[in-house]
Amino acid sequence: MDKILTVQHEALAAIENAADLETLNNVRIQYLGKKGSIQALMSEMKSLPKEEKPAFGQKVNVCKQEVTEALEARQAVLQEGALAEQLVREKIDITLPGDVKELGTTHPLLMIQQELEDLFLGMGYKVAEGPEVEQDYYNFELANIPKDHPARDMQDTFYIDPNTLLRTHTTAMQMRELEKAEGKTPIKLICPGKVYRRDDDDATHSHQFMQCEGLVVGEHITLADLKGTLEFMANRMFGEGRTIRFRPSYFPFTEPSVEVDVSCPFCNGKGCSVCKGSGWIEILGAGMVHPHVLEMNGFDPEKCTGFAFGVGLERVAMLKYGIDDIRNFYTNDARFLKMFDRFD
Ligand code: PHE
Repeated sequence: MDKILTVQHEALAAIENAADLETLNNVRIQYLGKKGSIQALMSEMKSLPKEEKPAFGQKVNVCKQEVTEALEARQAVLQEGALAEQLVREKIDITLPGDVKELGTTHPLLMIQQELEDLFLGMGYKVAEGPEVEQDYYNFELANIPKDHPARDMQDTFYIDPNTLLRTHTTAMQMRELEKAEGKTPIKLICPGKVYRRDDDDATHSHQFMQCEGLVVGEHITLADLKGTLEFMANRMFGEGRTIRFRPSYFPFTEPSVEVDVSCPFCNGKGCSVCKGSGWIEILGAGMVHPHVLEMNGFDPEKCTGFAFGVGLERVAMLKYGIDDIRNFYTNDARFLKMFDRFD
């Protein structure tokens, strides 16, 4: 019986002295574990005379219960302490200035692209896509520019192999769409995208730039439709009151072909430094889809006609935002790009 009390006192003292949860757990194993001291007392019961067994057993149970209760109480205290300590350790000073992550802004060229997409989607056009690594066939052949055609010199090309190139104009996407339509009209789409030409980069030239072309094919489509569409676009892109004019030009895939000028949005056509005194600014190339292009793509040029236009996005962005060097679009200077967050 004394032995039981000794174990009990020892255990309670050890529990009281346990300074942390780990020590306390060791104490629990030492006394209450399967090979612990209290279990050992239980086993000793076997060797006792029968009449002493109940009293002894009861005493061991009391001992076990007291030790268990003391353990639980101590555990609660220690856990609370540990939590309080953790709260102090992990305290966050919310008055300290945070690490502000710099957010990017929409790239000015993407802004122009999205503006054009909104404008033309609103008129029922669809937006087409196509590969930047293109076949000579779509970029040139189907666009009425066969090998050895002098017009190939207009677009100095990055060739990957004799039949594969980096597309030089978004016209390649138009050709894919025409072919896909299998002679069915109407077709009404725009195709924005990156294009590539071998060029020495300077303030107005870049070997990589962006275009957005439009294509409409159907019955009774005329040059007047083209003019109305482009005038609407000029007004939306450069402000109300813009007028446009056509000048004769040449593209192998359109006949007739025109160069399109918009009345200068800076001086309202009076003449200023931006329009070099002329009152007009050239913004794009356009024309009626060449009958041969329609034919090669499976359309009957006697039954349907179409117009096409192609605008350079850098040119539009430079005019709209007063940017004087095309390289700004591609050198990713954060200070330049940041200026456009007010348009986001
Ligand atoms: N593809 C021409 C270019 O890159 C632009 C254009 C498109 C002209 C459609 C007429 C019609 O210069």
